Amino acid sequence: MSRLESAIRRLQSQKVCIEFASELISDLQGVILEIGLGNGRTYDHIKKIFPEKKVFVFEKSVKAHPDCIPPKKYLYEGDFKSTLFKFKKEVSAPIILAHFDIGSGNEDESLKRAESLSVILSKIIDVNGLVVGDQSLSSKFFTELQLPQGITIGRYFMYKLNV
Ligand SMILES: C[S@@+](CC[C@H](N)C(=O)[O-])C[C@H]1O[C@@H](n2cnc3c(N)ncnc32)[C@H](O)[C@@H]1O
Repeated sequence: MSRLESAIRRLQSQKVCIEFASELISDLQGVILEIGLGNGRTYDHIKKIFPEKKVFVFEKSVKAHPDCIPPKKYLYEGDFKSTLFKFKKEVSAPIILAHFDIGSGNEDESLKRAESLSVILSKIIDVNGLVVGDQSLSSKFFTELQLPQGITIGRYFMYKLNV
């Protein structure tokens, strides 16, 4: 597969999974997290799909397209390992969806990030909430859901909290 085809698959997976998640949580009240703003593409799509929801964004160092930078009150800049807990202290609303895209291209680094994220999200996500992202999370905390049709296994992941 060419890198172009791989990039298209990744973007398509993100779009399809975010839209699928929106159907699954359509009855839930609460807020959404976008972890890893990057260029702001998935954030922009989440804003489009959930126009009435508050979307809080977590990014180590903001370098997004100017149109995709969230208002200050919704932006937590810094390492998610500390900012997610800061957010949870400040915002009491349930987290009904956490979307993360934190891969760096370096497998070891991405794995470590995913391990930290598994632990943190397991402590803060609502019991009915969904976690959708680009890395596999720990089965100690999360149960993997079946992906929507057309998404390559291992390309994107959807989870519910173990109960
Ligand atoms: C692949 S990009 C996200 C792309 C984004 N989904 C988009 O559509 O444009 C990954 C982002 O995760 C951020 N990131 C990685 N580790 C992080 C951490 N520990 N805390 C906060 N942000 C982190 C990086 O700075 C980078 O901007």
